[in-house]
Amino acid sequence: MEPFYVNLPNNHVLKTLYLEHEIILKTLDEISDLNTKIQKIQDLESAIPLLSELHQLSTILTDSEPHHQREEEALFPVMIERGMGGPPTVMTMEHGPIRELKHSLKDISINYKNVSWDELKSAINKNSIGLCQMLSDHIQKENQMCYPMALQGIPEKHVWDEIKKKADKIGYCSFTPK
Ligand SMILES: [Fe+2]
Ligand SMILES: [Fe+2]
Repeated sequence: MEPFYVNLPNNHVLKTLYLEHEIILKTLDEISDLNTKIQKIQDLESAIPLLSELHQLSTILTDSEPHHQREEEALFPVMIERGMGGPPTVMTMEHGPIRELKHSLKDISINYKNVSWDELKSAINKNSIGLCQMLSDHIQKENQMCYPMALQGIPEKHVWDEIKKKADKIGYCSFTPK
């Protein structure tokens, strides 16, 4: 079966969300590689450049807030209205802990002065692994189930135009492809 997005124009709400997923997934891969490097380092001093890299990468993730908001406020309400309430409810529930993990990873990358290197290292490990797992699972469910379901269950172009209007109003991420 063809993936849901192949025949969609680039400015379709679902295509934009899908393209943002690709960038988020790439960022998660980079965080995972960076965590592996950080775990091999013996002291805070030598880790500082990597912590600044971690800060940049986790900032990309915290910048993805408008992505989740477009899902929660523009797309999901229409799905729920049309009896496709299951996946949007689960996806919205998952956004909570994902938000927390992104923000705590970003916090760790800045506020590291008052903890020992071992504690910091293990917090980075725990947060990166948890976030990579949770967020990539979440994206897979949206790409493979939630978005294709929406595309099938909302056949009218004018409804997508309405969703798009709301999405435009919410706005886009710093990394959304133009
Ligand atoms: Fe989501
Ligand atoms: Fe998403």
